[in-house]
Amino acid sequence: MTTIEPEITIEVHLDADSAAAMARDVRLGLSAEFKELAPKYFYDDRGSRLFEQITELDEYYPTRAERGILADRSPEIVAAAGDPATLVELGSGSAAKTRHLLSAMRDAGCLSTYVPVDISEEITHDTAQCLVDEYPGLEVHGLVCDFEHHLERIPERSGSRLIAFLGGTIGNLYPDARREFLARISGLLEPGDRLLLGTDLVKERRRLEAAYDDAGGVTAEFNKNVLAVLNRELGADFDLDAFEHVARYDAEAGRMDIRLRSLAEQRVRLDDLDLEVAFDAGEEMRTEISSKFTRDGLEAIYAEAGLGLAGWFTDPAADYALSLAQRVD
Ligand code: TRP
Repeated sequence: MTTIEPEITIEVHLDADSAAAMARDVRLGLSAEFKELAPKYFYDDRGSRLFEQITELDEYYPTRAERGILADRSPEIVAAAGDPATLVELGSGSAAKTRHLLSAMRDAGCLSTYVPVDISEEITHDTAQCLVDEYPGLEVHGLVCDFEHHLERIPERSGSRLIAFLGGTIGNLYPDARREFLARISGLLEPGDRLLLGTDLVKERRRLEAAYDDAGGVTAEFNKNVLAVLNRELGADFDLDAFEHVARYDAEAGRMDIRLRSLAEQRVRLDDLDLEVAFDAGEEMRTEISSKFTRDGLEAIYAEAGLGLAGWFTDPAADYALSLAQRVD
């Protein structure tokens, strides 16, 4: 636990051996009949920069839509959430979008504490510092951890809380993992607490597929960057030009299915894993799913986790939704 200023506390709970975890994950994913890589390995420095670029593409509407909802409707969201004293944000990063919520809480006179939860210690420190300057009297209690594993570390409650999970990241979890994650969040919610969840919505295939396969090729570059990460971190010899980016909407499953397709029959070596992997010509390896939701579908998902819908906010085009949920006991 480090205290930099009286208003700032930051706790770090990172797994001792993330390199070993990555080696284990990748070995499992590449040894399976249907190969798959976990999306968290996209985000090295270059991957994070490419993702920033994606969020600014004409084709990629989710980030803009979510920011628009927060910019236009944060006062309504905060009121519907019952004027919470604490904002907990899972995957806070630079908290760019969060300021709309914090400002609405300040204006409503309820703002006391911000709890950013993020995997990057540096960003969490910098963000905390900026925010205590911008919001006089704000307490920041940051948590540096992988929120999929350390949700229980969220500090004890003093006043009601709003737990925000933005960016549509819930859509990147498979249904089982999503169920487990929401059940754990549900377990953290006390009467009066709310979850604020960002979800991309079902829409025409053409727009969904364009959002994940832009004309300029930034998304293709982002997707292939995961191979460069494996080359560097695991001593692999993936040839990035021997794979192509594939982004298809699976309407039945209600999700984008993002893959890398091997352009030829080839073998790839991962020195650090002492593993050789064969790809057939045309073989596809999944790198991410991104589920798209409907209001009814989300209500059913909430119900399974003991949650009830308590607010529904979309952009004018209804491309994207921020929903509020609360425990129903
Ligand atoms: N989580 C983002 C999403 O589902 C990430 C993303 C955007 C992404 N474009 C991508 C992941 C392309 C893989 C490939 O929208």
